[in-house]
Amino acid sequence: MTSQTLLEARKYEETTETLIGKEDRPIFHLSTRTGWMNDPNGFSVYKGEYHLFYQYHPYDSHWGPMHWGHAVSTDLLCWRYLPAALAPDTLYDKDGCFSGSAITLDDGRQLLMYTGVCEEPQPDGTKKGIQTQCLAVGDGTDYEKYPENPVLTKTDIPEDASQYDFRDPKVWRASDGTYRCIVGSRPADGSGQILLYESKDAFHWNFKKIFARNQSRFGRMWECPDFFALDGKWVLLTSPQDMLPQDFEYHNGNGTLCLIGSYDDETETFIEEQDQAIDYGIDFYAPQTILTEDGRRVMIGWMQNWDTCDLHMENRNWCGQMSIPRELSIRNGRLYQEPVRELKQLRHNEVRYQDVLVDGICSLDGIRGRIVELEVEIEPEDKDALYRKFAIRFAQNEIYHTKVSYRLQESTLKIDRKFSGSRRAIIHQRRAKVAAADGKIKLRLILDRYSVEVFVNDGEKAMTATLYTDQEADGISFMADGKVRMNVVKWDLMDE
Ligand code: FRU
Repeated sequence: MTSQTLLEARKYEETTETLIGKEDRPIFHLSTRTGWMNDPNGFSVYKGEYHLFYQYHPYDSHWGPMHWGHAVSTDLLCWRYLPAALAPDTLYDKDGCFSGSAITLDDGRQLLMYTGVCEEPQPDGTKKGIQTQCLAVGDGTDYEKYPENPVLTKTDIPEDASQYDFRDPKVWRASDGTYRCIVGSRPADGSGQILLYESKDAFHWNFKKIFARNQSRFGRMWECPDFFALDGKWVLLTSPQDMLPQDFEYHNGNGTLCLIGSYDDETETFIEEQDQAIDYGIDFYAPQTILTEDGRRVMIGWMQNWDTCDLHMENRNWCGQMSIPRELSIRNGRLYQEPVRELKQLRHNEVRYQDVLVDGICSLDGIRGRIVELEVEIEPEDKDALYRKFAIRFAQNEIYHTKVSYRLQESTLKIDRKFSGSRRAIIHQRRAKVAAADGKIKLRLILDRYSVEVFVNDGEKAMTATLYTDQEADGISFMADGKVRMNVVKWDLMDE
């Protein structure tokens, strides 16, 4: 039975989505159907389509009682909305259906596992949300909450762990066909940890062990974990809150963390070997992955961040977009990411220049636009007189621009949207270490109406930022301090 709360949300989204003009949305990034969107949820392949649910507050362009929005796609780029899947309509989730994941059961139904939040008044007059893990089963459109919800509660967490920080289950199938899930948790030291649970039927769950411990190394609470095998290694992704910066690797606030290691199947032990950030830009958080039918590990993230979500379009009634889905691989012991190959199908109107000498500022005929892909390769003109700086400006007119710039001596790549039209005092720039001893680097920029995603050296690093610059600002220019040789290709990205 569909609850009144869900029916209302479904009716509301149907009537209000029409208030958002098609031209006011990104083209190939999923944006909220109406209102507010945060984390991707339940990213899955089901009945031959990609399903993506998301944290959703249809009634406002700000966060509120969480629903699950829902969209499907056959190519990961062009999405079709389905009716909202979950609403906070039951005692245990009345204050929110928080993040979670999806899996197909043997009988063909789809299982959603999510965090139910139920607020409880505290002695000091404030409220705190008790977080439990809950299930819903459905056919790809309509989902029925499991009558025995919640399936994991405070009785299933270690004694010192907080029942107020117990969220974001990610479920998968172990090699023997039984089920596992990991959940973010906060132990007594106030930092984060990941708990592992097991189940034979996906409905009855038992605590297995503490799967990973932060011990205050990377921020505090760890949100939205994901765990999978990749290229002979095992990868644990999570989004830490309250991070302190570490060199160029991690920045203050809400960040992303990728732990690469090995996994002992017998004892279900993850052995960390290496850590890195997932995205080095400004707006990327809470990513989730799927394994596609052709064997690709594809990740999608919320293209926003809790520290920067004050940045959105002025006078618009929606807020929230997903990143482009990215194919993951491990090379040289590090996580690499590149836009899904399906993106190439959107390429039109190729403009290509070879061996352009950039010495000062230049723009090139035919290279402009706001819904474009740019591939830029540079090298020093003179190996004995290396350039100092190279920059690409885009979303540019006389007033506005956003910039990606590389400083060779410092080996840093910077993204800077200070002049993108933002009127908020939030973070507008971020830098990442990118080594290029011989001065050669390759940049791939994906621009949609309200974002840029930069992929460096075939996916070695990614930097993502939203920008809400007027669409008329569609100029692109190049700048070199010192002489640079450049190859550049531009494609318009269109869905027809
Ligand atoms: C991450 C997060 C999750 C939580 C959800 C609530 O962005 O804080 O931990 O489930 O958002 O909307």
